Amino acid sequence: MGDYRELARRRLPRQLFDYVDGGSFAESTLAANVADLAGIRLRQRVLRDVSGLTLSTNVLGQALSMPVVLGPVGLAGMLATRAEVQAARAAVSAGVVFCESTVSICGIEEVAAAVTDPVWFQLYVMRDRSYAEDLMSRAAAAGCPVLVLTVDLATVGSRYRDTRNGMSGAPSLRSTVLRGLDLGLHPTWARDVGLRGRPHTFGNLEKAVPGAVSPTDFQAWVDAQFDPSVTWDDLDWVRRHWPGRLVLKGILDPDDARQAADRGADGVVVSNHGGRQLDGTPSTIRALGPVVDAVGDRLDVLVDGGIRSGLDVVKALALGARACLLGRAWAWPVAAGGERAVAHALSVIRDELRVALSLTGVTDVADLDRSALASAPGH
Ligand SMILES: Cc1cc2nc3c(=O)[nH]c(=O)nc-3n(C[C@H](O)[C@H](O)[C@H](O)COP(=O)(O)O)c2cc1C
Repeated sequence: MGDYRELARRRLPRQLFDYVDGGSFAESTLAANVADLAGIRLRQRVLRDVSGLTLSTNVLGQALSMPVVLGPVGLAGMLATRAEVQAARAAVSAGVVFCESTVSICGIEEVAAAVTDPVWFQLYVMRDRSYAEDLMSRAAAAGCPVLVLTVDLATVGSRYRDTRNGMSGAPSLRSTVLRGLDLGLHPTWARDVGLRGRPHTFGNLEKAVPGAVSPTDFQAWVDAQFDPSVTWDDLDWVRRHWPGRLVLKGILDPDDARQAADRGADGVVVSNHGGRQLDGTPSTIRALGPVVDAVGDRLDVLVDGGIRSGLDVVKALALGARACLLGRAWAWPVAAGGERAVAHALSVIRDELRVALSLTGVTDVADLDRSALASAPGH
């Protein structure tokens, strides 16, 4: 995965690489997500018959060839030509599911039409509830079985790399010139995305953000539109408009997980938004265990944050997750080489998962539990 990150760094304009790579404030939670996973030791077991392995699972009613979901990544279509379509194709070919972000470049209809299996839809709630209601109808009409409601964006965590690169904050003449130069110095990106990847509009938000994507206007729009007054009671409103399964993404606290279960959610994603929101929160792998203990028998608990390999997936499942969402682990490959690179990254993750299962002596992902770990920080 480090190779794909490096390829993405070379290929993307700096502002876009930093947008993907960066986190909020001092990026300490971003670093902890990765470091705490790396700190977990697996328990090697030998002389067990591991000739037949089962990697497949069922998550929120959907059969997956391995416990991996391509999580929502906003603006992905600025990383590669129609990147959401490319990634969804790679996901479906690999037998896993793609989750479309509200703030994607390709609209949900374009993505759904490009693949044979259903995709999931991620929703941000906006002050003008009619946008969200419209999006829920569109996602349902496009055949999405699962709505992932992201609940950790009551306000945007300050991402200083974006501010420095002119991706957020008030634009100045200097930042506009530097951004233009940055784009011009990356001709492959300019050809593939700048020209072939058009239109650069928000495919799900044509009414709310008409015209081409401008990250600075978009930030202002997020600040003006994302609704910080959303509460648990609003889940009833979502339920009235959403016929399918409902997952809350951005849960870190067991009390919040219990509320989610009490309010009838079908699943939660233990997530700190990839370290992009509240810096200083625990890593998700540390937060996972207490959430599983609180609600693991009532709903599907998924996790994301720092998942870069099949070994990380095994660690997360051993701590009780049903599946892992990938963020940067598909964003870097798609930026580096489109659909083929995402397909390759998924095949590498699958191989790593196979090896990790074989050498921990576990033959079915469903049998993974804490006994597969030699040590885990905080547990
Ligand atoms: C570039 C980028 C854009 C993202 N956009 C969204 C988004 O639109 N909606 C959302 O719910 N989460 C979004 N996320 C968070 C991811 O869904 C996921 O929680 C996070 O990336 C997991 O951490 P990881 O990247 O370390 O795997 C985004 C993450 C990144 C890196």
